[in-house]
Amino acid sequence: MRVTVFGIGYVGLVQAAVLADVGHDVFCVDINAEKIEGLKAGNIPIFEPDLDGLVERNLKEGRLHFTTDAKAGVLHAAIQFIAVGTPPDEDGSADLKYVTAVARTIAQHMDRPQVIVNKSTVPVGTADLVAEVVGRTLAEAGRQIGFEVVSNPEFLKEGSAVADCMRPDRIIVGTSSKDAEMLLRQLYAPFNRNHEKMIVMDARSAELTKYAANAMLATKISFMNEMAGIADRLGADIEWVRKGIGSDPRIGYSFIYPGIGYGGSCFPKDVQALIRTAEKAGVTPTVLSAVEERNTAQKQVLFDKIAQYFGSELKGKTFALWGLAFKPNTDDMREAPSRVIMEALWNAGAKVRAYDPEAMHETARIYGVRSDLDLVGTREEALKGADALIIATEWKVFQSADFETIKAQLKHPVIFDGRNIYDPAFMQAQGFDYFAIGRGERRKAS
Ligand SMILES: NC(=O)c1ccc[n+]([C@@H]2O[C@H](COP(=O)([O-])OP(=O)(O)OC[C@H]3O[C@@H](n4cnc5c(N)ncnc54)[C@H](O)[C@@H]3O)[C@@H](O)[C@H]2O)c1
Repeated sequence: MRVTVFGIGYVGLVQAAVLADVGHDVFCVDINAEKIEGLKAGNIPIFEPDLDGLVERNLKEGRLHFTTDAKAGVLHAAIQFIAVGTPPDEDGSADLKYVTAVARTIAQHMDRPQVIVNKSTVPVGTADLVAEVVGRTLAEAGRQIGFEVVSNPEFLKEGSAVADCMRPDRIIVGTSSKDAEMLLRQLYAPFNRNHEKMIVMDARSAELTKYAANAMLATKISFMNEMAGIADRLGADIEWVRKGIGSDPRIGYSFIYPGIGYGGSCFPKDVQALIRTAEKAGVTPTVLSAVEERNTAQKQVLFDKIAQYFGSELKGKTFALWGLAFKPNTDDMREAPSRVIMEALWNAGAKVRAYDPEAMHETARIYGVRSDLDLVGTREEALKGADALIIATEWKVFQSADFETIKAQLKHPVIFDGRNIYDPAFMQAQGFDYFAIGRGERRKAS
């Protein structure tokens, strides 16, 4: 089938590549000319496992096309995906200007009936809004062409986006049109062979499903972070608590890792947007507001431990920072807790020597050149002459560290671990002062 995807970011690019890989003929349209030129040459603008090979193969086999020519994109297919960003606007609501811009573009160029598929995360009512924009644009041009707008939210996780799109847990389709449903069934048939994954519902419910899923996951994280704070005060170890409650199948092990708060492009903005949606609907979002409040506070927790350890003596100190991305296996720095920690250290007059396996370019792009930030090429280099080590992302490569080297390179044998990747008793035995999340504090025996 012929498909066009508007917005070639984390969602659009992965979805387009995966659709091409199962045999569809996919046009990818983006307004970012540099990105499109790069992609044509096989340069992948983001780090996502297995994505480069997938794009290369489908580009070579002629099923994936990259363009800034919106008209050519619209004319290519009778299914148009919208996968552009929906960033928060000033009050935290989702800003729909990119979505409505694409809707207008599709309406301006469409020459036959279209199924327009909203893949972006959008507030309840956006399918209606897109339909209104398309209808109005067609009417203004005096044209009459049939179209349907379908909500088809995306549930991929950065870091395993390709695998998630190849083997989705569920495919949510929000439409009351049987024809649109049949078209999407055909499109997604290669992903739906093992068992029925498609759940068809009305568009508003589909739109809310996406926010509810992210809000639920964010709630689990914030709940656990609050438990970690309680454990810290009471001398309990949150990692035992995690195992103890995760073993209950009603709770499960997923998304109950304590840490330094959730980040990324989705949870923070989606929780905020849902709060605004609830308020506008006259519902007081008690739980959602608490989830957000806990997360904001949680991003400060590690810095507070550092400040407490060193007293008011942070000025002139240097901190090794392992991990910049908001989670492992991505280079995405959006809302990353590492940023809050770095910025707090800079405000206190400290310097940062940072290393991340994938997010170095992104960090350099965001912060530019500054005298209090050294971006170095290896985890060992980050340690050189630093006063302490901070761990902000649980990349696997940090989990198997050489503790002798760490001790030899640091001025003080102290580690602030925002991801609980080491065992406190072991670290203490290795001669470290070790501070993690919800595990009390361990100082080396004097
Ligand atoms: N990143 C994720 O993990 C994830 C997961 C599920 C859902 N989502 C949702 O999917 C949507 C896209 O997220 P993303 O992370 O891929 O965003 P992104 O910022 O990585 O990419 C968005 C792309 O859209 C392009 N764009 C903007 N206006 C355009 C236009 N008029 N025509 C063509 N292209 C245009 C931008 O240039 C950019 O390349 C958001 O609503 C997000 O909430 C994201």
